[in-house]
Amino acid sequence: MTADTTIILGIESSCDDTSIAVLKGNKILANVVASQLIHANYGGVVPEIASRNHQEMIWNTLQQALSIAKIEINQLDGIAVTKGPGLLGSLLVGVSFAKGLSLVTNKPLLGVHHMKAHILAHFISDANQCPPSFPFLCLTVSGGHTQIVLVKSALEMEIIGKTIDDAAGEAFDKAAKMLGLPYPGGPLIDKHGQLGDETKYTFSKPKIQNLDFSFSGVKTSIKYQLEKWKNEDADFVENNLPDLCASIQKTIVDILIEKCISATKQTGIKQFALAGGVSANSKLRNDFTNTLEALQVKTYIPKFEYCTDNGAMIAMAGKFLYDRNIFENQELCAQARLNF
Ligand code: KG4
Ligand code: ZN
Repeated sequence: MTADTTIILGIESSCDDTSIAVLKGNKILANVVASQLIHANYGGVVPEIASRNHQEMIWNTLQQALSIAKIEINQLDGIAVTKGPGLLGSLLVGVSFAKGLSLVTNKPLLGVHHMKAHILAHFISDANQCPPSFPFLCLTVSGGHTQIVLVKSALEMEIIGKTIDDAAGEAFDKAAKMLGLPYPGGPLIDKHGQLGDETKYTFSKPKIQNLDFSFSGVKTSIKYQLEKWKNEDADFVENNLPDLCASIQKTIVDILIEKCISATKQTGIKQFALAGGVSANSKLRNDFTNTLEALQVKTYIPKFEYCTDNGAMIAMAGKFLYDRNIFENQELCAQARLNF
């Protein structure tokens, strides 16, 4: 069997990470991520600043990726780009750049759905883990989305559960903000929580019968309890930060895991993958594996570098489109909202 030597460039600019990767076959040769730390000063992503930064970073990011991969631009077989969903101005930078590259190199343009790419990151070659086989379930948890997806094939996916309000990443970030932690607070809750007692505080959990999620009640419960505790002791958060982070993290992760258990019971599918930025969370990774494997469900956890936004997953998703000759033309538009 001859090795697959197709080379795909993956361009990601949907939010606040400018990332470009080079994929050969299903192996990543380079995955350069330029994260925009400036948004921490504003407590959240400022769309206008994000798109300007993408504009400034994208050329150098491409040069770095090609140089690490030792690939000349004319060796590329296809150019994959996130077409949505995401911040419109940010997406526009990546899409316009990809269209320009496609035009000058005369290589096909591949338009990728950001959330599907998070899922398809599982097909990037990994010495430690085989990819799942179809059909499988995937919990996709990011800053903007929380979904349970039934993945029938690389191109056919059905959302069987979704958040009716905030996303899990948003819940982490908003809780972190209430604790006075900078944006994005999710990784900081994880870090401080590792030193804390997760059973110290309890927050109210939603009671939703189907596979949908809700995090707005948790957020309100954290807000009011914190206000009460801070009224009693002005230094309450400072003195109890690890326990607070661990308890908040446990509440959010428990909500996610309960729905995963219901989804596997309802569908009878015994393979479950995890995807999206929140899959970097250490407790979620542990609990997801331990709880589901105890139910004889095989679990798939992405490599850490493919959890948060990255060009590698865009290149991998683009490869599936390339193999099926699903190409875009110069009329490709960035779409802030994009259905599955
Ligand atoms: O997928 P992603 O990189 O960007 C979007 O498409 O939204 O996800 C970003 C989200 C943010 O809300 C961030 O706080 C969260 O993922 N996140 C985490 C961790 N690492 C990233 N949340 C909890 N624990 C982490 N270790
Ligand atoms: Zn993402």
